[in-house]
Parts: sequence; C-alpha cells; structure tokens
Amino acid sequence: MRFDHVGIGLAAWISVQGQLGCAARPSDELATETRAVDEEADDDGNDGDGDCEDGGCDDGDCEDEPGAVESLADAAERAHRLVGAAVAFGPLTTEPTYREVLERELDYITPENATKWGSLQPEDPQHWSFEEADTIIDAADGAGQAIKGHALVWHNQLPPFVTDDLTPEQLTQTMHRHIRKVVRRYRKQIRAWDVVNEAVADDATLRDTVFLRKLGPGYLADAFREAHRADRKAVLYYNDYSIDVINPKSDAVYALVQSLLEAGVPIGGVGFQMHLEAQNAPTTEAMVANLSRFAALGLRVNISELDVRVRLLSGDMATKLAVQKQVYHRVVAACMQVERCESVTAWGFTDLHSWIDSFFGADDPLEFDEQYRRKPAYHGMVDGFLGVPPDAAGTAPNLVANSTFEIGTDGWVASGGTLDATGTIAHTGASSARVSARTAGSQGPVHDLRAVVQPGRGHDVSAWARVSAPAETVRLVAKTRCEGGSDLSTTLDSEVATDAAWVELSGELAVPACTLAGVTLYVDDVAVRPQPGDLGPNLIANPDFETGTAGWFGFGGPTLTASTAQAHGGLQSGFVTNRTATFQGPAHDLLGLAVAGGTYQASAWARLDGAGSGPATLTLKASCSGADQFGQIASVTATSTEWTEVAGRFTVPSCTLTGLTIYLEGPPAGVNQYIDDVSVRQDLSMLGSNLVANPGFESGTTGWFGFGGPTLTATAAQAHTGAQSVLVTNRTATFQGPATSLLSVATPGAHAASGWVRLASATAAQVRMTLKTTCGGVDQFATVGAANATDAGWTQITGTLTVADCAPTDLVVYFEGPAAGIDFYLDDVAVQKLAP
Ligand code: XIL
Repeated sequence: MRFDHVGIGLAAWISVQGQLGCAARPSDELATETRAVDEEADDDGNDGDGDCEDGGCDDGDCEDEPGAVESLADAAERAHRLVGAAVAFGPLTTEPTYREVLERELDYITPENATKWGSLQPEDPQHWSFEEADTIIDAADGAGQAIKGHALVWHNQLPPFVTDDLTPEQLTQTMHRHIRKVVRRYRKQIRAWDVVNEAVADDATLRDTVFLRKLGPGYLADAFREAHRADRKAVLYYNDYSIDVINPKSDAVYALVQSLLEAGVPIGGVGFQMHLEAQNAPTTEAMVANLSRFAALGLRVNISELDVRVRLLSGDMATKLAVQKQVYHRVVAACMQVERCESVTAWGFTDLHSWIDSFFGADDPLEFDEQYRRKPAYHGMVDGFLGVPPDAAGTAPNLVANSTFEIGTDGWVASGGTLDATGTIAHTGASSARVSARTAGSQGPVHDLRAVVQPGRGHDVSAWARVSAPAETVRLVAKTRCEGGSDLSTTLDSEVATDAAWVELSGELAVPACTLAGVTLYVDDVAVRPQPGDLGPNLIANPDFETGTAGWFGFGGPTLTASTAQAHGGLQSGFVTNRTATFQGPAHDLLGLAVAGGTYQASAWARLDGAGSGPATLTLKASCSGADQFGQIASVTATSTEWTEVAGRFTVPSCTLTGLTIYLEGPPAGVNQYIDDVSVRQDLSMLGSNLVANPGFESGTTGWFGFGGPTLTATAAQAHTGAQSVLVTNRTATFQGPATSLLSVATPGAHAASGWVRLASATAAQVRMTLKTTCGGVDQFATVGAANATDAGWTQITGTLTVADCAPTDLVVYFEGPAAGIDFYLDDVAVQKLAP
C-alpha cells in the first residue's frame, strides 16, 4: 500500500488532544449513577497512556477499527455525559421524524411543559391530567432515555387555584400534595427533578412570588424536603437563568444553595438554563469558573435549557450559524471541564419547535434545523464532547460545519478512492477523515463551499493532514468557477506530510466576486474562516512616516527618526537606532483609538539595517487597571535585503484600559530597524448589529431627543455620509446634546461605540459621548469617548460603551461638551456589541 491514507482533523490548533475518555471523567460517584456511563465504564480500558480509544490501531491494520461516533448521545456517552432536549407533547405524537431524531440522537429528556404544575392541574385541586406527561415519560423510558422532571415549584404556569387567596397553611398543604403525588407517580422513571425554578429575580433578591409572599423564604427548603420524602433517590435541582457566569444573580443563587446545604436540605444540584444570545454568550473560561464554584460545594451541575439566538448577529446566515456553532461548542466544552457537570440539555432540538420564536422573535436557536438536519451547532456539540478545543474568543467563525469528522463525513466527498471517518487516528478529538484506495495524486477529500463563502471576500483556509507513507507532498487546493466560466484550481498550500505526525496546511482563498458555479476545496481542508471583510479606518494617523515621526516613539528608549535610506512605499520610513535590548522598537499608542474587547487587524512592513536577519514581532502591550499584559500579534523573520510584512489579528482585553501600545520588536540589541506602512484596523465583522435604530438621520430625528432640552433638527446642511445629519441648537448648558435610549435594545456587556461630530461655528471644542445608566434609582454617567471637534470637518468619537448588568431602568447615550450656545452636528452613530 502506498499513499493510501490521508487523515484529516481539526485545523488551526496547535496541540494534539488526548483521545477521548482520557479527557474529563466524572467521579465514580457520578459515573455509576449515570445510565450512559454504566454501559461504557467496563470496556473503557483507559490505561492512562493517552491512546485509550485507538487501541494501538495506528497502522490501520486493526480488525475492528473504531469509527466515528454515530449520534450526539454516542458522543456524550463517550464523554461520560448525558445530552438532552426538552420534549413537547404535540410534535412527539404527530410528527414521526421528531420522535425518530429524538430517539436516535438524545439520551436525556425533560418534558417541556407537561410536568409543570399548571399542566398537571389545569382546573381545580381535584383533577389531575397526566396524559401528556405519561406519554412523554413512557416514550422516553421505552427508548432507554433518562428523564428529568420540570418544574415542581415555579411562579409561572401555575394552576388557577394557586393564588394569594390561600392561607399559608393551605398553600403549604397544596404544594406538598402536588410534590408528593407527582414525584411518587414517576419515581421509577424520573431520575432528577427541578424542584424550584427561577426563585431569584434579576436584581439578585428572592423573587416576589406567591410562595415567597405567603410562606417566606423557607418555602425553598420545604419543597426540597417534601420532594426528598417522595423519592429518596431522585437528584433534586435548583434551576435558573442568567446565572451562567459569575455575576450578582449567580452570587445570590450560590449563597442560597450554600445556605440550603448548611441547613441539611437535600438539594443535589444546580441547573443553568443558558438561554443565550450568540453576540452576548459567555466564554468557556467564564462558565467554567462559575460552574466550578457550585461543583465545589459538592453539588452536581447541568446545563438545563440551552438555546442560542442568532437574530442580532451581523453577517449572512452561514456566518451566524458558524458563530452559533462556536457558542454550542463552548458550552459543551465548559461542561466537559467541570467533573460534576453531568448533562447538557437543549430547550428543544429542532428550530421547527422552539419557544424562542414566540417569546423573543423568529430565530434559529437549536442544533437541528426545521427539516431536522444537523446544523453547525450540532457539530459544535459533538466536538465539545469529544474534547476538540473550542475556538479562542475573537476567532473568526469556521464556516465548515463538519470540520473535525467526529461524527462521520457529512458534507464531504472523495474525488476518487474511498472516504470514511476513522477513529484510529485524529489530530484533535477522536476521529479524522481518511481517503484510501487512492489511484491518483489528485484524489482526496472534497468539500463544497458554495453555500458558505462570500463572493469577493478573502478566507483563511487551513487543515491538518497526515499520510500512511513516510513522506508525501500533500496539497490544499481550491477550485473556483464563476457561472459561465471555467474551473480555476489554486494550490493554497503544499507540505510534506508523513506517517509520524500531523502537518498543517494553510493559505488564503480569494473567492471571486461573481455568481459561483462551484467552489470546491480539495484535499485536506478543514477550517474556512472569513477574513475581515469590513475593516474600519486605519487608527494610525501617520502610518508611512512621510512627514516625520508624529504619533510614534521608541519603546524602551531607542532613538526614532524618519529616514530616506529605505522606504516600503513613498520616500521615507521610520528608523530605530540605539537599541540596547531585543524588545526595543517603534511604538504607537492605541489608547483612546482601539476599544476594549475589540478585534483588530494589524500590519506593518519591517526591514533590518546592515547584514543578517532577525525576528520582527508585532506586540500589543495592554495595561488593565495598571497591570501590564503583553501579547504577540504576529512574528516573521526580517532581513536587510527586502521588506517583510508582519501582520496578524488581535483582540484588546475586555478590561478597564489604562494603557495600550503596539510596537515592533525582536532583532538582537544593536540591530537598527526600519518600519513602514503600518495599519491597525478594527474588524467590524466581529461586531453585533448597530443598536441605534436611526443612526444617520436620513429621514429625520425619530428615536432621538435633546438631552437637557435643546432643539434637534435633521438637516442637509452637513452630512458625514448620506444626505443628512442632525443639528443641535438652543443649547443652554454644556451637557445638552442629541440623545437616544438603548434601554430596550442593549444587553449587558461591552459595545464598540462611535459617532461623528462637527461644530457649526468657527471654534474648537471637545465633544464627549456619554452613557447615562440608572440602576436601583441611582444615575451614573460614564464618558464613552471624547474628541476635539472643529467646524472644518468631521471628527470621530470612539470608545467602549459598557452596559452594566444591573437591570437598568434608564440607559441613554448622548453627545455633550461644547460651551452653551455652540451648535453642533452629529451623524453616523453606532453602538455594536463586541464579540466575547
Ligand atoms: C417555556 C416553554 O418552552 C414554553 O413552551 C412555555 O410556553 C413557557 O415556558 N425557563 C423555563 C422553562 O424554566 O420552563 C420555560 O419553558 C422557558 C424558560
């Protein structure tokens, strides 16, 4: 056999992950109680040597090779987790496909509504209606799925007779009877219950419910105790939303469950609902930090109602779904990193039936589409269970849905030979794609990209490859064809692959700006990430040193001059001499220019003076509340014979910035450096959509008002873009200016904010963008950004606008600053959520 084995795994990661099963294993205590684990535990055979699942099949000669996993449940089972969905009676009993997919893919069921109190007793205390609950529970039980009941004590969907008219004694009795009857009925089938749901309000105090009003805070302990009396084995959960990361509400829930535990209340776990918005979704690390502290109390944790809204993301649908995949991946990865996290349950599983559409507007929040097809999010979940590391925050989304072959070769074909997914070898996770029985060098795995790439835009493409021969050249090839045109094949990269290690291929794919008849990626692809399509303006005002070194300085003390000895473009470049340490070099301040949490594309041209070569590294120094962090943006080898570009992306830390500097460093001390044509541009495609409804005043001042009472007029006298801007007149105090409310559209977190201002009369004045937040009745004012405006042109104000997580009752952004009596124009205001 020669060259008959091309394996592919996930691209863009540097470390090869241990095989599955070597990753987080739950404690034995947890494992023995997890049905899915019982079957797996005995034959796992993990000897801890890091190749637990491949059983030494690397040579491909094994009789019974491990293949890819077959379902989500299969993936979760390998990870010693359960994976579930909320199930609705209607589709379960009327749509065969719903039931088929549910039984094939999932092993943990929560009745979506059927076990709620109001569903079981819709009329009066004498009548119970168990039909829908029985149907769902019997179906799940019959299919061997584990079941969680939801939710015994909740302020919503209650029977009509549970009201404030009951005496405390009557309410206690009614509650006990309900808990006893329902928990006992399903004792043999239901393994866990959400006993109390959503008892903490958004302001982190105990929610004002009929239970709290009538029974006081003791109702929680009482409910858990009654449930425990009814079924000693069931795991009893407290369940809530907006507690996914450490925040005031999760602090309150933490204190609550801690006090219940101290009082000996039989609470077994906490459920984290995670009804997420993609543009607002937490990082893996933030979720892990929070879940871990609950687990450290000895509690189990689970993700109980996951869904991820994408409606407010910017970009086309393929991009939105790729971002959604990242979020699903992150959530599952977080559960995998917390030993006591036993399950990930989504609130539904198909976009055809989700509560989101009616509660938050039409969306596509789940892991199967409306035709029950696996979405990118589905692959994100599988990847999470199989230990594939999620993308780092700020990484452009991967447009290839099935990029890791953990669950087979969906979406891929072979251009010859036989394609399969094999569990014998993997770059990350447990499987890779393999093309065997190849008869020509051009044969390999192929993926059609037409549906996901954007015409006219660049894409970063990468893949990891490996062959069964000692050394063979492997090529990453893109084939494009415009409608009516002919095929154009481009080799994006070629590397020598071996049978000893994975090699990464990577290159740039420029998709032609035409109607695509075919874009086919040949050979060993995996990640296709859109390059920043929309870049903001260059933040470096003096990028080319043509007029000197204004805005630049020597980092660490070297001498910086403008030189005509070399130039990449134009006649001059920056020149650094007297370098006494490798880290010294040309530097530019970005504080006030780049925003915390923003993602940027940076590029500079570097050249050395004299002989030899040396590293040229672009570094970002960020100071967060005074603490310095250094991050490498990109590094290349620079020489003295030609100019070399050093370019890369970076994300500014989401913190209170006290300093932000970009600089070029690396060559040995004593070596002089040239620098030219520097650019730092924000990647606007990483931002959420603009929350300002009427940002350009093209059709008037709708949505805007004069803060403090000045007059606003939409005018064609000046415009930054389009035909109009807004003019503010009759200002009687410095703080007066155009304002708009963000209250109904903004969510907590950091936003990139910007607006363009211009004075109406010949003077100069500072204009500030200010955010007014009212929380708990207290007004707070924060300066988002400021700039010196004139009447000679437009000036941009930029900054980070941070919406506090304090359930504000007022949230207004406005522009202020010039002395009373000075009129000014405003145009093109944008407030966009920064990707986490
Ligand atoms: C939702 C259901 O999905 C809807 O069908 C119903 O109309 C309202 O309730 N948090 C919870 C769930 O704990 O019970 C809610 O379910 C969604 C929010």
